[in-house]
Amino acid sequence: MMDSIKLYTIVVLFVLSGEYVSGTTFTFVNKCDYTVWPGILAGASSPKLDSTGFELQNGGTRTFQAPSGWSGRFWGRTNCNFDGAGQGTCATGDCGSGTMECNGSGATPPATLAEFTLNGSGGQDFYDVSLVDGYNLPMIVESNGGSGGCQTTGCLVDLNKRCPSELMAEGGGACKSACEAFGTPEYCCSGEFGTPDKCKPSMYSEAFKSACPRAYSYAYDDATSTFTCSGGDYTITFCPSSPSQKSSMGTPTSNMGATPGTEAGPVAGAVTGSGTDTGMGTNTGTGSLMADGSWFAGLASGDSTNTRHPNFGLQLALLFIVITSLATSLFNL
Ligand SMILES: *[C@@H]1O[C@H](CO)[C@@H](O)[C@H](O)[C@H]1NC(C)=O
Ligand SMILES: *[C@@H]1O[C@H](CO)[C@@H](O)[C@H](O)[C@H]1NC(C)=O
Repeated sequence: MMDSIKLYTIVVLFVLSGEYVSGTTFTFVNKCDYTVWPGILAGASSPKLDSTGFELQNGGTRTFQAPSGWSGRFWGRTNCNFDGAGQGTCATGDCGSGTMECNGSGATPPATLAEFTLNGSGGQDFYDVSLVDGYNLPMIVESNGGSGGCQTTGCLVDLNKRCPSELMAEGGGACKSACEAFGTPEYCCSGEFGTPDKCKPSMYSEAFKSACPRAYSYAYDDATSTFTCSGGDYTITFCPSSPSQKSSMGTPTSNMGATPGTEAGPVAGAVTGSGTDTGMGTNTGTGSLMADGSWFAGLASGDSTNTRHPNFGLQLALLFIVITSLATSLFNL
């Protein structure tokens, strides 16, 4: 009797261990050769994560768990000065809290943003990297596991180095959007330009788009900038194309130009299933996006299997227990 109850419990645990996925893991990685202070802003109806702002040294990583349905945004603050009590400010991406924790405040533009909605319509996670509020540092989002499109997005390029002088901010430490710099309805997609058919890409947003084809370059850039994935975990990497990553890639960088045709090759390998994003169709950018032309090499380095094996070790262990318990009760060993 005891044995069958024990067995039943074990079988139930076995089944649950395969099904149960406790939310989504976000991993922050700093490959910049400087310290970044990430900020996290949860959406209005989402709980705050374990931190709303923290220090991430060069080479550092930190993970967070987010519950199903969570939405919010991440960004990196640079050139911060916090004292021992965690009081201070940052040159870019500052959230105005006066402290290390952003505590419900968002980034002051210009700042590169990663935006997420977990388990949204159709059970999919929606994510993008946005330059609509300007740019302050390179950042990509990669999915680990999950099914569907699950493409890597972001901006590998150091746009501060190619920022038009009229958009430059913080002595070259950030690059404003045209909306922020000039404040006109055309650039901000506001007023009579407040609809997708009225608000078109500008010379400035097109320059952002050609450098970072997968990032939002202006408010209605959805078609090529929003990505979906179901049940994945996500890694947010600052300065992803630092030398250490390039050398570990093992991907030839010679033919990784910026044309849509060559992007399709390496990227396709990292994607299974059919995403709803429309890929790079409207990218008209030309020329080498990085000095060594390796722009998409980083975007092809994601998980190529896109299969999730939750608690595989636990399942094996439980399977072993089930078999030995069965043997014990059947043969009375
Ligand atoms: C996702 O949301 C739906 C309702 O919108 C809910 O039924 C489902 O359980 C959620 N999935 C997870 C993994 O929580
Ligand atoms: C953070 O927010 C909480 C609740 O809104 C508030 O009590 C606290 O004083 C805030 N801390 C800082 C440093 O702003």
